[in-house]
Amino acid sequence: MKIVCLPGDGIGAEVAAAARDVLSVLVPELEVEEHLFGGAAILATGSPLPDDTLAACLEADAVLLGAVGLPQFDAAEVRPEQGLIGLRKALDVYANLRPARRAAVDLLVVRELVGGLYYGPKGTREDGTVFDTLEYHPSQVERIAHRGFVLARGRRGQVASVDKANVLETSRMWRRVVSEVAAHYPDVTLEHVLVDTAAMQLVTSPERFDVILTENTFGDILSDEAGAVTGGLGLAASASLGDEGPGIFEPVHGSAPDIAGSGTANPAAMLRSAALMLEHGLDRPTEANRLTQAVDEAIELAPTPDLGGNATTRDVVAAVLAGIER
Ligand code: NAD
Ligand code: IPM
Ligand code: MN
Repeated sequence: MKIVCLPGDGIGAEVAAAARDVLSVLVPELEVEEHLFGGAAILATGSPLPDDTLAACLEADAVLLGAVGLPQFDAAEVRPEQGLIGLRKALDVYANLRPARRAAVDLLVVRELVGGLYYGPKGTREDGTVFDTLEYHPSQVERIAHRGFVLARGRRGQVASVDKANVLETSRMWRRVVSEVAAHYPDVTLEHVLVDTAAMQLVTSPERFDVILTENTFGDILSDEAGAVTGGLGLAASASLGDEGPGIFEPVHGSAPDIAGSGTANPAAMLRSAALMLEHGLDRPTEANRLTQAVDEAIELAPTPDLGGNATTRDVVAAVLAGIER
């Protein structure tokens, strides 16, 4: 069992170190290889996804990723985020699972991750017009829809497919293909929800959702919102999976330049992503459960500032380790 850890930038590196400390106790036999990625990799090599980093990820059983992004590259030609977008494509991890739970809310955003606006033709025309293109092939919609329905089957059996079919061609195709796929899952109920309405309902009645199935950009936005209504980005984890090969496990949040270096980043989102890795990537459900439970307890015992407390990242790690050893 060998994983690649890509700490990345800002608090990405801080929460990745926290995850490594916890994993070394929880799964001592796990081999962890660290590689340059994101802004750190641009500074060292000129590329956000160096060849040897990509090669190591392709060989690994799973990839555990902190976060990328450095303010100094915000307007640069080569940006840390390009590494992430390239890595997702190279591993073809088209299904991004972003669970959000709190009290009566228990939902799962299933976000298409390797298509849409992020990957369509983009550029600048002679007259100065700048464009990004939103494209989807029906086969891309079909495979993420199947994933969404299979996941719903293991939950409350409800899929809310989110689109903008009143305006976008891609959304009308999305709606048609999702409806066709739904016919294979008569035990799952399907509703189509327009994205603006979905954004509103996520705030006013998040408990109405089970699986939210949506395209790349809508899923990016709605998953931050789902995180926010269930305790904040410090808690929101994700798993990005393909059909075979290693998955990528990373928090929903970014490098948080505003708190980087303060030692107060909440490592819970990263630790929950590590639990998703143990469950989905390494087939270690027992350790995954132990970790999830220890994190749930630790955020009550040692809340970081984003949760209204004053615990540090290290305090949370200590609380998680104590919980694991109990
Ligand atoms: P962000 O998610 O980094 O931060 C948003 C807010 O949430 C900030 O106030 C931050 O302090 C807070 N926050 C986030 N995670 C936290 C944690 N674990 N504990 C406590 N507070 C936390 O979003 P941003 O500031 O808009 O983006 C910063 C950089 O991160 C950008 O360069 C962006 O591209 C990048 N980014 C990367 C990823 C990724 O690598 N997967 C995801 C999102 C954003
Ligand atoms: C996320 C991030 C990324 C995305 C960025 C950093 C490319 O916001 O993982 O949600 O938009 O997918
Ligand atoms: Mn995002």
